Amino acid sequence: MKRILLWAFIALHLSCKTTIQELPATHLKEGRGVTAKNAMVVSAREEASKIGLEVLKSGGNAFDAMVATEMALAVVYPFAGNLGGGGFMVYRMADGETGALDYREKAPLRAHRDMYLDENGEVVPERSRLGGLAVGVPGTVAGIFATHEKFGSKPMKDLLAPVIALAEKGFAVSDNQARNFEHYRDLFLEVNIDTILFARQHQSGDTIKNPALANTLELLAEGGKEVFYEGQVAKQLIDFLQSHGSIITLEDLAAYEAKWREPISVKYKDYTVLSMSPPSSGGIVLSQILKMVEPYPLRKFGHNSLRSIQVLTEAEKRAYADRSHFLGDPDFVEIPTSFLTSVEYLHNRMKSFSFDKATPSVEISHGNIPGYESMETTHYSIVDQYGNAVSVTTTLNGAYGSKLYAEELGFFLNNEMDDFSAKPGVPNMFGLIGAEANAIEPQKRMLSSMTPTIVEKDGELFMVLGSPGGSTIITSVLQTILNVTEYGLTMQQAVNVARFHHQWLPDEIVFEPDSFDPELLEELRAKGYELNERNSRILGKVDAILKLDNGWLEGGADHRGDDTAVGF
Ligand code: DON
Repeated sequence: MKRILLWAFIALHLSCKTTIQELPATHLKEGRGVTAKNAMVVSAREEASKIGLEVLKSGGNAFDAMVATEMALAVVYPFAGNLGGGGFMVYRMADGETGALDYREKAPLRAHRDMYLDENGEVVPERSRLGGLAVGVPGTVAGIFATHEKFGSKPMKDLLAPVIALAEKGFAVSDNQARNFEHYRDLFLEVNIDTILFARQHQSGDTIKNPALANTLELLAEGGKEVFYEGQVAKQLIDFLQSHGSIITLEDLAAYEAKWREPISVKYKDYTVLSMSPPSSGGIVLSQILKMVEPYPLRKFGHNSLRSIQVLTEAEKRAYADRSHFLGDPDFVEIPTSFLTSVEYLHNRMKSFSFDKATPSVEISHGNIPGYESMETTHYSIVDQYGNAVSVTTTLNGAYGSKLYAEELGFFLNNEMDDFSAKPGVPNMFGLIGAEANAIEPQKRMLSSMTPTIVEKDGELFMVLGSPGGSTIITSVLQTILNVTEYGLTMQQAVNVARFHHQWLPDEIVFEPDSFDPELLEELRAKGYELNERNSRILGKVDAILKLDNGWLEGGADHRGDDTAVGF
C-alpha cells in the first residue's frame, strides 16, 4: 500500500512537472492551472481559446463565444474542429436554467441498415470510415445558428469576423499537427484522389492559410444557415459529395435541424452532474457509473489504487453493456432512461461484484427492464463573466473524419456513420458493440459517447468539462470529476493524471502506457483482469474549468495535446 501511495505521489509530481514546463510559473500556485477572476475558455488550440475570450472581453456571452470558438477550431484544428461534422452542447445559465443542444449528424434519407455489408453479409469497415459513403448529414452549422438565435447577444458577422481573419492570415502548424498531417497524408491522397491543402508538406512553424474556408464563412455571415443547408454552399457541397460516392442529397441538407434537448441530470453526493442525453450515451452511462460507485469510499481507497480501479472498472463494464443494448436515437427508439439511472436498478447491478475476483464481461449482459421492448472529436469549456457556462464537444468522428476534404469550401467531412451499429455484435472503430437500438435508419442520429458535462455543487456552478476519445470519453470525464470531488486534486492535476478505461467488451482494462505501478497491475492480473497497456491510445483529452471557493476560475487544459486555457 505504501508503495502505491509513493507511486501515486511520484506520478502526481511528474505530471505537475509536465505542467511546469508548459505553463508560466505564476500559474502554478498549489499545482493549479491558469486562473482567472471573470471568465475563461479552454480548448484544443490557443488561437481558438483566445478568439472565444476576445468575444467575452468585448461584452459577449458564453454562447457568442461558443459560436466563435467552434468556428475557430474548424480553422486551426481541422483534425476535429469542423463545419462538416456535428456535436453537442450542455449549458447552464447564471440563474441556474439548464439545457442541451443536439447538432449530431444524421443518416441520409437513402441510407439503409445493411449499407456497410458485402454480399456475404459481412461488414466492410472502410465503407463506414473512409470517403463519401461514411459521411453523415452535417449538423455543426445548424448548431451554431441555433445557439446564436436563442442566446446570442452579438451579430453573427461580428462573431465570425475574427475567425475569417484567422483563416485568411493563417495559423502556425504545431509539432503535433506537423506529425499528424504527415501520418495521414497517404490516406488524404487516396480518399480525395487529388491533393488537398492538408496533404501538402507542412513543417512545424509553417503558416497554413485557408482562403476557401474564409470564403465559406463569409457566405455564412452574410446569408445565414440557409446558405449551407439550401443555398450556394449546399449545392457545391452536394455536387462534391456525390462525385465522391456519397448518398447525401439536397433534400437531406434541407431537412436537417439541430434539436434542443433536456440534459441528463444525476445527484452524486453534494453534486448535481448534468450531461448529454441521447443520442449521446454520455449522460446516461456517466450517471450509471457515478451511482454505481457512490456507495464505495473511493477517497479512502485512494486515487488510482487497486480498489478504486476495481470499483470503477466493474461499474464501467455494467454501464457499457447497457449502452450497447438500450441506447440509440430517442427519436427512433424508446429508451428506458429513468429505469436505467435509478438507484435500485444500479445498486442491484453491482451485487455480482466482489473485490476478490474480476467479473468476466461474458457474465455481464444488459440489465432486465420489465416491459422494455427491444426493438476525432474536440471539447471546449467556457464560463463567461456573467456566470453562464457552456460545455461543447464537437466531432468529425475519426481524425479528419472520412478524410474527404471539400477543397473549394475549405473543410473536411465526417465519418460519423461508423458510430452506427453496421451489424449487431460487430464492433465499430472504437470497439463498441451495438444492437438493434443503434441500427442504421434514414434520418436517424447515430449513438454517440460525447459527454459535455456541467457539475453543480450545492446548487451553484462548480465544474465544466468534456473530452474527445470515442468510447473513452465517458470514463475520462468520470475520472476527472472524481479526481476533484473524491481525490482532492486541482483542476489541472485532475486533467493531468493517468487514466484507465473499461468498456465491457473487449474484456480488458486499458491503461495509459507507462503510467501505472507495475506491482499494482500485477495485483489486478492476479484477480483475473485482462490488462492492455501496450496498444492503448491516449485516453481522452480533457478541457475543463473549475470554480474555486474564492469565486475565481481554474482551467485544466490537457497536456496530451496543444490545449490551452485563457481567462481574464
Ligand atoms: O460520437 C462519438 O462518440 C464519436 N464519434 C466520438 C469520436 C471521438 O471522440 C474521436 N476522438 N478521438
